[in-house]
Amino acid sequence: MRTRTRNNAAGFKLGAILALSMGIFIAGCGKKEEAADNAKAPAAESKPVDEAASKGVGPIQSVAIGADLDPAMVAKGEKIFSGTCSACHKMDTRYVGPALAGVSKRRTPEWIMNMIMNPAGMTQSDPTAKALLGEYMTQMSVIATEEEARAVLEYFRKHDGI
Ligand code: HEC
Repeated sequence: MRTRTRNNAAGFKLGAILALSMGIFIAGCGKKEEAADNAKAPAAESKPVDEAASKGVGPIQSVAIGADLDPAMVAKGEKIFSGTCSACHKMDTRYVGPALAGVSKRRTPEWIMNMIMNPAGMTQSDPTAKALLGEYMTQMSVIATEEEARAVLEYFRKHDGI
């Protein structure tokens, strides 16, 4: 009986602390929105990130995707993948990093290229990449040029049948 009473008391205290910190959190948010209003950029600031459409963080703003796959790029991308990326990635199973089958369907072309060219910046600033780092506990480290990243993207597209 005694233990129970103590637990309840602790539970109440925790609830009070939670409510208090939420109050602070909400008040903090209000202030931020006000500041954004003043800066005349409120909508973009407060919109939740649409992860499916995210371009990520890095040098790639837009990627021109052809209607047909480019076989030379696919071949080059496959070579880069088996030479460099396969140290940490397999297509169909989790390894040091995530399985990459389907990646061209779950991420935008820009996001994929930014991940290959700017992995540390992505895991620092992009919410999806940050969550992956939290899950895989290894920082992806690779240095790729835009041409190489584009070729690997083409290889992923071929693998995913798009
Ligand atoms: C040292 C190991 C390592 C190497 C080498 C590496 N990666 Fe990664 N990769 C990771 C890890 C780990 C993650 C998850 C994010 C993180 O923790 O940095 C990841 C994430 C990714 C993602 C995002 C996957 C998803 O589900 O959205 C892509 C795409 C990717 N890597 C492509 C590549 C390509 C292409 C190469 C080769 C040019 C490569 N990686 C080389 C470890 C590696």
